[in-house]
Parts: sequence; C-alpha cells; structure tokens
Amino acid sequence: MLENLERIKVQFKEELNLAEMKDELERIRVAFLGKKGLVTEALKDLHNLDAEAKKTAGMQVNMLKNEIEKAIVDYQKVLEEREYQKELENAERFDYSIPSDKPVGAMHPITIVQKQIEDIFKTMGFIVEDGLEIQTEFNNFEGVNIPKNHPARDMTDTYYLDNGQLLKTHTSAAQNAIMKKYGAPKTGEPLKVLFPGRCFRNENIDACHENTFFQLEGMMIGDDISISNLIYFMKVLLTEVFQRDVKVRLRPGFFPFVEPGFELDINCSICGGVGCPTCKNSGWLELLPCGMIHPNVLRLGGIDPDKYTGFAFGLGLTRLAMMKFNIKDIRLFNSGSLKQLKQFTV
Ligand code: PHE
Repeated sequence: MLENLERIKVQFKEELNLAEMKDELERIRVAFLGKKGLVTEALKDLHNLDAEAKKTAGMQVNMLKNEIEKAIVDYQKVLEEREYQKELENAERFDYSIPSDKPVGAMHPITIVQKQIEDIFKTMGFIVEDGLEIQTEFNNFEGVNIPKNHPARDMTDTYYLDNGQLLKTHTSAAQNAIMKKYGAPKTGEPLKVLFPGRCFRNENIDACHENTFFQLEGMMIGDDISISNLIYFMKVLLTEVFQRDVKVRLRPGFFPFVEPGFELDINCSICGGVGCPTCKNSGWLELLPCGMIHPNVLRLGGIDPDKYTGFAFGLGLTRLAMMKFNIKDIRLFNSGSLKQLKQFTV
C-alpha cells in the first residue's frame, strides 16, 4: 500500500512538471483526485486492510490527497503568472521616455504674466473672475458711466455685433456684473476681485497696436478703501512682476468710471530714473490707469456709494508682457509663431 502511494506521488510530480497549460492541470487533477483517480482508488483499497493498517495507511492517503490538492492550486498560480508575463511580452510597447516628434507645448507670454499676477493677488485674498468677451452695450459703457455720446462708443473704435451686443473694449465691462454678483461687502471684509480678459478695439495693426489685446483689471470695495490702499497694492504688484523695488507716482488721468482718476507711472528700469530715450528723458514709464470707483458706477452695481468706496485699476497685460520680456513687436502675440512664442519662461 505504502509503496503504491509512493509511486502515485512520483507519478504526480512528473506529470505536474510537464504541464504547461491550465487545462492540463485540470486533467491531472481528475486523474489523481477524480472519482476514478489514483488517490481515490487507493482510498477504496483501504477496505482490504485490517483495522490497524487501515489507520496508518488512511492517514498516508489523506496526507497525499492534501499534498496534491495544494500542489495543484500553487501550480495554477504559477501558470497564471506565466500566462500574464507572456501577454505582457506580446502587448504593444509604449516607451514614455522616447522624445516626441510632435511640438512640445509652452505657456504663452501673456499667460505667464497673467498667472504670475493672479498668484500674487490670490495670496492677498483676491478672487479671480472670468469676464465675458461678448458684452452688452450697457455693461461695456453705461454701467461704467460712459454716456451715450462718448467718442469711445463710435463704430470706428468698437466692434458691434449684428444683435446689438459688442466685443468688450476693456475689462471694465465686467465691473457691473461682478458688483451685482457679490454685492456690497457684508462681513466687513472688502470685496477683492481680479478680472483679466481679452479685449477688442478697431485699431489698425502695427508694431505697437493690435485690435485684440489683454487687460487685467482689479477692484477692491469696502468700508474704508482709500487711495493709500490703491498705491500699496500697485506697489506690491509691480515689485513682484519686475523683481525690483519700483517707485510709483500718480498723475491725474481721466476715465469716466473713476473719480479721482490717475495714471500710475513707474520709475524707468532702463536708466534707473535719470532719463533715457525709452522714458523720453522723463525717468518715468506710464504703466497703469487707476482710480477710486465713481459713485455712479457703484450705484449702478447695487452698492451704496455713501457707505462704500473702492479702487479699480486696469493693467495693460499685453504691454506689461512686452516690457517684461522685452518684446518689441505686439504682433508676435497673435502670430501663432510657436518657434518664437515658446521661448519665454517665468
Ligand atoms: N478701462 C480702462 C481702459 O481700458 C482702464 C481703467 C480701468 C482705468 C480701471 C481706470 C480704472 O483704458
């Protein structure tokens, strides 16, 4: 009996070693453990033994049965792993490290400057809003206190659409909607918003003029906002963008939606303020218009001008990108020339 078991064991091992597919494994299982399998037969043979021999032999047969069951399960795993590896070998290979023959993307210089300014202002608690490019006449003009007969509303300056709407000529077109959206500051915490966007004006295009350009506008409205707040935020902004301590000065400037209105200049980075051709010998570069939001504009936006004040500034993002990256021709921005546009980094 024991010899017989030993033979079965050896035979099982030989057959198992030869098996290469899962279905062969199943055949082996049936051949040994199935109804007429060798182990099952051996169990039946136990009947012929006397009680004592039956006990030891019985244990041996059961041990062999368990051993075979376990070996089959283990081997099944080995075969599955082998099959998986084979599938992997045959699968289509994709090597991520091979350099692409397609052009690699890069951020547009205007996007770089826009993101940089957004990051600076976000750390100072500003939210960023996305103004529409197609606007109503009201939002673009009346809402910001530009009356019907204002020259900026002329067909030669503004692209009107057939439906009476227009392509926004400045980011200020979003002021009214933003004021209505957020309302007067309720918690004592001022409303601080940044709204960059693409603007359109009917200009003849040359190295300095484009009909499509970017502005970045900001507003801060609260209980007690003054020109000092305006100057502070503008100084932080410009110092970060130009990576130097910039001096600023305000000159009076007229925009119907601010009162008082200013032109903010920075000291010329080329000559350090002593005067050079870039700054037309004045030592200053005109950079951004700004001012205290006109009471009419607040009122139209649903904010009580007797309780609240605010400042607004409108930065020429396209012009700032030209200054920062020393780009001489504005036409580069909309040229789609990847070769040139890809070269700018923060
Ligand atoms: N909207 C003005 C322009 O397009 C810029 C501006 C914005 C001026 C906010 C003052 C305050 O020129």
